[in-house]
Amino acid sequence: MTDFSTIYKLSLVAVFCFIQACSSSCPVLECWFVQEKVGRGGGLTAATSQEKSLLHIRTDAHSHSAESQKAPSDINPDRVYFITDPAGTFCHPSLNPPRGSVKKPQCEINPFLPQPSSLKWVAPLTDSALSPIYLQADWFSTSHQGLNKELTISSITRAPTATKEHNVILSVTSKTVSVQSRLGEPVVLDCGFWVDPSSPLSGSGFAVEWRYQFRGDGRLVLAYDGKTDRLADTQEEGATLDFEGLHEKGNASLILQEAKVHHSGMYICTVYLPYLVAQVAVELEIVEPPSLSIHPSPLPLAVPGQTLTVQCEASGFAPLSLELSWEFKGSDGKSRPLGSGSVTGHRQAWDGTLSQSTRLELDTATLDLGRGGEVTCVAVHLGGTRRASVTLNAVGFSAPSIEDSMAMVGVALVLYGLIKFVSWTFTGSDSDEADKQDKKVK
Ligand SMILES: *[C@@H]1O[C@H](CO)[C@@H](O)[C@H](O)[C@H]1NC(C)=O
Repeated sequence: MTDFSTIYKLSLVAVFCFIQACSSSCPVLECWFVQEKVGRGGGLTAATSQEKSLLHIRTDAHSHSAESQKAPSDINPDRVYFITDPAGTFCHPSLNPPRGSVKKPQCEINPFLPQPSSLKWVAPLTDSALSPIYLQADWFSTSHQGLNKELTISSITRAPTATKEHNVILSVTSKTVSVQSRLGEPVVLDCGFWVDPSSPLSGSGFAVEWRYQFRGDGRLVLAYDGKTDRLADTQEEGATLDFEGLHEKGNASLILQEAKVHHSGMYICTVYLPYLVAQVAVELEIVEPPSLSIHPSPLPLAVPGQTLTVQCEASGFAPLSLELSWEFKGSDGKSRPLGSGSVTGHRQAWDGTLSQSTRLELDTATLDLGRGGEVTCVAVHLGGTRRASVTLNAVGFSAPSIEDSMAMVGVALVLYGLIKFVSWTFTGSDSDEADKQDKKVK
C-alpha cells in the first residue's frame, strides 16, 4: 500500500513538474507599445509615441501564475498585459531566450481598429452583418521576430474594453523568415494561420493574399478567397497554394514551382478574417553560383618572352557580387596568386542571371613558369567558390634537369630498340616469303 502511494505521489510530482515546465516556456515578452499621438492633427506624418510594455503569455486563461511576477520598474503598470494564446504560438523557444542573453526577440504592439476591407477577395467576408458588440472591445495588433530568424508572428488580440486580459483571435506565422534557393528548384515560403475557434469570426471565411516587394516595386502574386474557394487573382506563373492544407490546417504557404532570378525579394503573406487582418514577411533570395570556362583551352605552348592571354568567363550566376582572380600552380606544386586580371562589367542574360569575365596577360618573361603548371581561375560567390583550370606547357624556360636527360636517353634507347626490332621482323618475314616463293617455283 505504501509502495502504491509513493508511486502515486511521485507521478503527481512528475506531472506537476511537467506542467510547470510547459507553462514556464511561455515567455514574458518585453514589447514596444507604439501608437499614434492623439490631438496632433494637421501634419502629414503621424507622430507616434513609444512605450515599453510587458506581455505575460499563457496558453490557458486560468493559469494566473504569471500575474504574481513583479513588473520591472521602467515599465508603466498600465502597459502590462496578459495574453492567452491557446495555440501556444508565442511559446516558441525563439521568443524565449535564456536569461541574460544579449540578443532579444523583437516585439511591437499597436492598437488595432477592426474594419471591413474593400478588396475584391476580402469584401465578401463582411457581407453578413456580425455582432457589433463583439467588435466593440480593445484590439491590439502585435508583431514578433524570434531569434535567429526562426520565427515571425503577427497576431490580433482582443480584450473586453478597458481590461488587460487579451485573447489571441488570429495569428499568422512564418518559420522561413529568410529563404535561399538555387535556380530552378521548387520553393516553399512558409505561412500559417490560426483562428480562435471560439471567436464568432471563426468559420465565417478567410482570405489569403501574397504580395511581392522589391526595392519599392510591389505586385500581387496571388489572392485567394477562402469563402468561395476561388483564386481571385494570380499574377505569377507557377505560384500556388496547397488548398487542402490551407482549409484543414491553415497552411497558407506559397509554393513557387521553379525558382527564377526575378523571384528574389520580400514576400508578404496576409490573412484576412472578417474585420481583421494580420501579415508576415518572408525574404527569398535566389543564389546561383557561376559556371566557369577558360579560353583558349588547351593553352598554346608557352615560349620564352611571349605573352599569353587567358580569358575566364563566369556565367549563370546570381546575385551580383562576384570576385574573380587567378592562380598559378607550378610543377613544384606551389600555388601563387596572379591577381584578378582585367575584369569586365557584368552582363545580364534573358533569365536574369549574370555573367562577367576576366582576362589575364601572362607575361612569360617576368613570370617564373618553370616547366609549366596549371593556371586556375577562381570565382568566389555567395553560392560557393568555383574553380576552373587549364594546363600550361612551357618550353625552353629552364635547362633540362637530370631526370629530363635521363628520360631522353631512355626514350632514345627505346626508339633505337624499336627500330631495330621492326626492321628485323620485316626483313625476317620478307626472307620467309622469299623462301616460300622459291619453293613454289621449284
Ligand atoms: C505547408 O504546405 C507546404 C507546401 O505543400 C509544405 O511543404 C509544408 O510542409 C506545410 N507545412 C505544414 C506545417 O504542414
